[in-house]
Amino acid sequence: MTLLETKNLSKTFGSLKAVSDVSLKVEDEIVSIIGPSGSGKSTLLRLLSNLETPDEGQIYLFGQEVTALNSKDKLTAYKQLQFIFQDFALFDHLSVYDNITLAPIKVFKKDKKQVMDEALSVLKDLGLSDKINSYPSTLSGGQKQRVAIARAIMANPKIMLFDEPTSALDMESIDDLKKIILDLKQKGIGILVVTHDVSFARSISERLLFMENSSIIYNVSLDNITDHQGRLDKYLK
Ligand SMILES: Nc1ncnc2c1ncn2[C@@H]1O[C@H](COP(=O)(O)OP(=O)(O)OP(=O)(O)O)[C@@H](O)[C@H]1O
Ligand SMILES: [Mg+2]
Repeated sequence: MTLLETKNLSKTFGSLKAVSDVSLKVEDEIVSIIGPSGSGKSTLLRLLSNLETPDEGQIYLFGQEVTALNSKDKLTAYKQLQFIFQDFALFDHLSVYDNITLAPIKVFKKDKKQVMDEALSVLKDLGLSDKINSYPSTLSGGQKQRVAIARAIMANPKIMLFDEPTSALDMESIDDLKKIILDLKQKGIGILVVTHDVSFARSISERLLFMENSSIIYNVSLDNITDHQGRLDKYLK
């Protein structure tokens, strides 16, 4: 099933074309986007997450063209797409428990007892049970990231987007993250990761997209990666 698709997506800031004519598809799979700094990777993720509006092109989420929706319907459609920010964007004044249950209770008006049961189970799965009453400032980078992932999972997503998820992690936390991402995929969630960490990308992904000068110039399955040359080779060494 195609979870996310774009057709000829473009975004310009002033005279700078940050994303140019990008067409891509994410099925029920793990896809990583790699490429040099400034090539437009984060901008593309922000467009896909409804944090920026494209100048041109279409975005389809679960088969529905979200770029054609009004803002209320868009928000509803986007509930099942969760973006894990590079800085995690946790609420510093709220405990771990409140961080992950705030939206389900206050915004989505779900039953409190049900939300509590879900929260306990998600925190347990992510090895955070002992941090339930902790505040973000007392957590490590890896723990904060897992809280952000827990919060995203509470929204019951079909697709999750990560921007540079390994940038603040040590080797052991990267291994933990790898397991978490593979586990999410196992649960049927599509994953799109932007990363500079090519070995991480190779170890989790089924497909790599290479972005340069605001466009996707390679789209390769990791099964036949040996067929490629040119710019991509330098990155994959
Ligand atoms: N809000 C903005 N206003 C103006 N220019 C922007 C804005 N956001 C991004 N850009 C520019 O768009 C280009 C692409 O930026 P983007 O952050 O998408 O790159 P990136 O591939 O994620 O880079 P990195 O690997 O360093 O994170 C850059 O030249 C950047 O300066
Ligand atoms: Mg970036």
